[in-house]
Amino acid sequence: MRTLVTGGAGFIGSHVAERLLKRGEEVTLLDNFDPYYDPAIKRRTAAELGALGARLVEADLREPAALAEALEGVERVVHLAARPGVRSSIEDPVLTFQSNVNGTLNLLEAMRARPGLRHIVFASSSSVYGGDAVAPFREDQPASRPLSPYAASKRACEHLAASYAELFEFRVTGLRFFTVYGPRGRPDMAIGKFIGLALSGQPVPLYGDGSVVRDFTYVDDIVDGIVAALDRPSPGFEVLNIGGGCTATMRELIDLIGAALGSALEVERHPAAAGDMPKTHADLTRVAERLGFASRVPLAEGLRRTVEWARVQRAQ
Ligand SMILES: NC(=O)c1ccc[n+]([C@@H]2O[C@H](COP(=O)([O-])OP(=O)(O)OC[C@H]3O[C@@H](n4cnc5c(N)ncnc54)[C@H](O)[C@@H]3O)[C@@H](O)[C@H]2O)c1
Repeated sequence: MRTLVTGGAGFIGSHVAERLLKRGEEVTLLDNFDPYYDPAIKRRTAAELGALGARLVEADLREPAALAEALEGVERVVHLAARPGVRSSIEDPVLTFQSNVNGTLNLLEAMRARPGLRHIVFASSSSVYGGDAVAPFREDQPASRPLSPYAASKRACEHLAASYAELFEFRVTGLRFFTVYGPRGRPDMAIGKFIGLALSGQPVPLYGDGSVVRDFTYVDDIVDGIVAALDRPSPGFEVLNIGGGCTATMRELIDLIGAALGSALEVERHPAAAGDMPKTHADLTRVAERLGFASRVPLAEGLRRTVEWARVQRAQ
């Protein structure tokens, strides 16, 4: 069984690829080593996965011609490649839509050209719930008031994929991830950034009053959800939340990171950021029923593991 993992050199993609390789499966990684954050990190990760047996196709989803090679011998797709980040989508919505929406459309079209290839699991986001969400967020909420171009791009991908299920018998699971963290975590996201700054003795930035609430999900739990969706294909189109199952404010997060590090963080206050959801909180009823998913790693334990990983990285 060969699986294509788009965005396979990135944070979540690399963990998915590693899990599949360790199960003895064949994996093709597709990545363009996007400069959203240091591409050298992604190249190192791709080399590590190559040593475990992954095949790498360096290609950009915005270039449809490159996709046929990546799909060679592939039986199912985990689609994670995207321009992530709410703030970057406000600065450059065109780039966000080109990578996320056109990229997804090109991938679906390349799959359509291969009649045996209809099974795709792809990354959506808690941000699709937007301004009209009621916590805890259930998949049957309208998700019709996106607060950023990033959120709109992820919702557009859900609609696109749903149309391929309707028209071309695609079996699609869109997984709405809630703030993912862990080893190899994105350096632009709060947890990775805070731990890095604290370890080098610098203050961490806090936007607004620290009351923003997030449902934080350890990366192994996300991988559990993705692999379960691969193992149990949807009969048509479905969206499912994958969350950590408990929430914390940014203030609480800062205290928990301090506890994991063994010393309190110094905080630098900034005005609240535009486009951010004030609160995210996943209802996990549907994903438990459909995939038997339950999150296994509590926030304090996940932070402990992430700090341990960051310390080892710094020592190298
Ligand atoms: N990390 C989170 O908290 C989170 C939350 C919700 C949703 N998501 C989604 O999960 C997916 C993975 O996120 P991540 O945190 O691992 O991000 P990441 O940036 O670490 O990984 C994305 C990878 O995709 C690649 N990529 C970007 N544009 C590409 C293109 N046009 N062609 C080919 N490759 C391209 C990048 O080089 C990168 O390696 C993304 O779709 C993201 O939107 C992440």
